[in-house]
Amino acid sequence: MKRLVFALLIVIPSLFFVGCGAKNAANEAASEPVEKVTVAEAAAATEVAAVEPPEVVAREEVTEKPQMFEPGAFESPERCANCHRDIYDDWSKSMHANAWTDEWYQPDYMLAHEETDGATDTLCGACHAPLAARTGLLPPADGSKFDERSRRGISCDFCHTVSGIAQMSNMGHISEPGNVKFGPRGDGRSLYHEVKNVNLHSESKFCGSCHMVIHPATGTYIIDTWDDWKNNEYGKQDISCQDCHMTPTPGISKTPGRASLMGKHRDNVAFHGFIGGSSYVQDELGNAEQAEMSREFLRSAAEVKLAEQVTADGTLELTVDVHNVGAGHKIPTGTTYIRIMWLQVEVADETGKVVYSSGQVDDKNHVDPDAVFFRVLFRDAEGNLTGKSWRAHGIGYDRRIPAKGMDSETYKIPLPAKGEYQVNTRLMYRSMTQESLDEILKRTGEKRPPVVSVEMAAAKTKVMF
Ligand code: HEC
Ligand code: HEC
Ligand code: HEC
Ligand code: HEC
Ligand code: HEC
Repeated sequence: MKRLVFALLIVIPSLFFVGCGAKNAANEAASEPVEKVTVAEAAAATEVAAVEPPEVVAREEVTEKPQMFEPGAFESPERCANCHRDIYDDWSKSMHANAWTDEWYQPDYMLAHEETDGATDTLCGACHAPLAARTGLLPPADGSKFDERSRRGISCDFCHTVSGIAQMSNMGHISEPGNVKFGPRGDGRSLYHEVKNVNLHSESKFCGSCHMVIHPATGTYIIDTWDDWKNNEYGKQDISCQDCHMTPTPGISKTPGRASLMGKHRDNVAFHGFIGGSSYVQDELGNAEQAEMSREFLRSAAEVKLAEQVTADGTLELTVDVHNVGAGHKIPTGTTYIRIMWLQVEVADETGKVVYSSGQVDDKNHVDPDAVFFRVLFRDAEGNLTGKSWRAHGIGYDRRIPAKGMDSETYKIPLPAKGEYQVNTRLMYRSMTQESLDEILKRTGEKRPPVVSVEMAAAKTKVMF
């Protein structure tokens, strides 16, 4: 197993030479299901991957336009709500609207601030509070200079005054705040503002420039959703982020209506709820409907299939195949150093007595550390596994299910006696680990209900020995 760990570590560093041929080769190697390393084994590995800083960051367009504006240059979302009420209502319950006030973001951000002497303030703020970052209200890190609109996270006037993209990571959007609102059509008539289509808002790269976070010093991919999408089947067929995420139900669907008071009737109006995996947070925010939509998204993403056989000596060989059937990127994606997906396997005899279990949740709401985990963890400068993104020197553990792909795990389970056994397997998801929440609560001194697990897929079978 040691050898496998080492193989994993030498594949990863070449990922950092962005733009060179080695990267694609590394990506292909990374998606082969050979490197089965458990989190515990990855933690025990002592080899530290040598990391070179990236030489180039993908640039599609270079801008000379100034990107700092006077406070107040961007309009408040309340203003837009006057005419775009339905869109406002959906957006205001999205994680985008919550990106700065997010009580699960803030402690992580403040810890980064403390541990880096503030070096991360404007980096994190660029995406989580873009209005403040572009109008000089950040720093100070604590947001004490913010005006009301800056607190509303990623809001209407940030996205709709974007006229181009200068860089495909770390928020490379070009802003042109003013009377022209850039959107997907450009044919609407509004007395309040002009509209213009710059062929950007229906493109994945509009989302990708934020949904791609690269550590500025070490080149580690912190969030890789864009790069992953661009190189997979969905990216090649141009099935966009908007196709799946700007519709209220998973998959591609249409919601006819008007985008504005006095607007034209449209056969499809873009949904602004930006649903993802955060059902726990949405429930905590009191957005029950969004939480349910989120669970629907999660359930649409995966399928579990089983193949089983019992050997003569009574060993159950159970192969669990996890398929990514619905997501346009790996599952999980995004902040996979906080999010987890894992397998629960339980084998019970005829009396219902459990003779084997893996991946169960204990009384502290922590997941069995020996479970099969699908997630990412970083490796810090000392070679230890970490979920602190700012300390990432490289990838320490990465096991996720590629889009339209699968990963499989074989369990060898000794059966205690002759008889029939019931086998239950479940693919589980948490948008954050209980450990991350414990850490947050320790810092804030608050109390919160335990993280809730979501069942993404399940399969059962019976075996005879
Ligand atoms: C006085 C009413 C009014 C206000 C206030 C208003 N809009 Fe609009 N907006 C409209 C109308 C009407 C349309 C045309 C809708 C249609 O026909 O589909 C429109 C269209 C748009 C579009 C679509 C552009 C496209 O691709 O065709 C965007 C984007 C937009 N508005 C953004 C905003 C933003 C951001 C704000 C707040 C800063 C805002 N609007 C405030 C009335 C308004
Ligand atoms: C994260 C960026 C983002 C935010 C925040 C955002 N929008 Fe949009 N909006 C988009 C994108 C992208 C589209 C085009 C979607 C597509 O082409 O499928 C769009 C489409 C629209 C349209 C045209 C809808 C249609 O189908 O005709 C209007 C109007 C609009 N947005 C208004 C708003 C208003 C008002 C707000 C705030 C309440 C807002 N947007 C917040 C990204 C955003
Ligand atoms: C300005 C940067 C930015 C842009 C542009 C942007 N996002 Fe996001 N997005 C974020 C941030 C930051 C979060 C996390 C907010 C949080 O959880 O606090 C997020 C969260 C999400 C989520 C997760 C929701 C959940 O339930 O966890 C989805 C889905 C999403 N964005 C989709 C999109 C799509 C689709 C687009 C393009 C139309 C887009 N985003 C454009 C920054 C951005
Ligand atoms: C084919 C449909 C599809 C496409 C295309 C797609 N997504 Fe997703 N996305 C999903 C589904 C389904 C989920 C729920 C499963 C999950 O949470 O991983 C999801 C989850 C997410 C999440 C939540 C993180 C997580 O794993 O829980 C984010 C963030 C996100 N998508 C962003 C994007 C961005 C950005 C793009 C474009 C680069 C994109 N998605 C393209 C279907 C899609
Ligand atoms: C280039 C844009 C970008 C930058 C820079 C960025 N983030 Fe994020 N952040 C995102 C996106 C996109 C998501 C949502 C991903 C997902 O849903 O899985 C997110 C989600 C998060 C979350 C999860 C919130 C939740 O409710 O689950 C935390 C915590 C977080 N970011 C912390 C940080 C910190 C700390 C920094 C600075 C060191 C930072 N981010 C910098 C784009 C960014």
